[in-house]
Amino acid sequence: MKNGVDTREKQAIGLVPGSLAAIALCGLTLGGLLPGIIWKAVAIVLCGMVWLQASRKILVRMSLLQRLGYQTLCCVAFLLQPLIETDEATFAGRFMARLVVVFLWALIIAIIYNIIYKNKPKMRKKIVAGNWKMNTLPAEGVELAKGVVAGRGEVCSCVNFIVCPPFTHLAMVAEALKGSDIELGAQNCAAEAKGAYTGEVAAQMIAALGCKYVILGHSERRQYYGETSETLNKKMAQAYANGLTPIYCVGENLDEREAGKHFDVVKAQIEEVVYNLTEEQFKNLVIAYEPVWAIGTGKTATADQAQEIHAYIRKVLADKFGAAAAECPILYGGSCKPSNAAEIFAKEDVDGGLIGGAALKAEDFLAIGKGFQK
Ligand code: 13P
Repeated sequence: MKNGVDTREKQAIGLVPGSLAAIALCGLTLGGLLPGIIWKAVAIVLCGMVWLQASRKILVRMSLLQRLGYQTLCCVAFLLQPLIETDEATFAGRFMARLVVVFLWALIIAIIYNIIYKNKPKMRKKIVAGNWKMNTLPAEGVELAKGVVAGRGEVCSCVNFIVCPPFTHLAMVAEALKGSDIELGAQNCAAEAKGAYTGEVAAQMIAALGCKYVILGHSERRQYYGETSETLNKKMAQAYANGLTPIYCVGENLDEREAGKHFDVVKAQIEEVVYNLTEEQFKNLVIAYEPVWAIGTGKTATADQAQEIHAYIRKVLADKFGAAAAECPILYGGSCKPSNAAEIFAKEDVDGGLIGGAALKAEDFLAIGKGFQK
């Protein structure tokens, strides 16, 4: 999966601003039939509500071909209008004719915004990934995954959900996620391809179980298991060799933050590992900025602190990979929860979250995804 935005998202970009213009135009067209300013205003509001719902729930999900069909229908309907709206037409006839004009506005606006969108830079993927760490028994993990699947429909389809359970749960959770768009990731992989490495789990094995992602370089692994940039370079190579997208974690500890060294720390973590990737590999990378002092502590970086360092990370990426850096999702991690997600995700360079504790309750995990709708 590439970093760039998916098709539904592209359409949403064209439809949502277009909707604002459509609300006024549709409302005025239908309101033309109604007496008095108040009724016209009611028509505008009603049209607006219907149009926004349609954009969010239906049109956004259409494929390009389906939308072309929809737009052609609008054209045909418009051409039929003179046949319907005559002087002698009944109220119902005139209403139908006006409805046709409303569809025409929809057509024109959708086309204009599609054209404008083509000239705009791509938006990045929005990702909410759950790192379950060493929590839940397999059956509990399956229940958790099922809970996420059950509530997924309440969250914008523009949000990409990923769950990263312990290795022991992967096969069962993969089964529970079947038929949904929630993707599976692992929390680690071995630095070697296979062989006599007791206790290790190869990238090939997790890929075979249906994983699309692997978290690499998490601070807990750097801190408790001595993972160095050298090991991480090997793990990254294994991930790519097996078609996995790494979620590469960077972040400073409290001492480093207090000494004002956080920029240098994340820069080194990127230079020592990410800079070794090819341009093609870089297109399949997710970065997670996780300040160690915010992990599991309840202490979150402020939205401004997150934006400041995310923008810096993007600059460091751009120094090596140029324009492709604009498409690399950078997630925030560290005591991210439903109450603070929306504010953090609203920042320009924050493309979602890597969630620990709050990913262990389906309700909270999904509520974090809703942070993108606010
Ligand atoms: P918490 O959300 O529990 O702070 O954990 C963050 C994290 O480490 C995700 O990888």
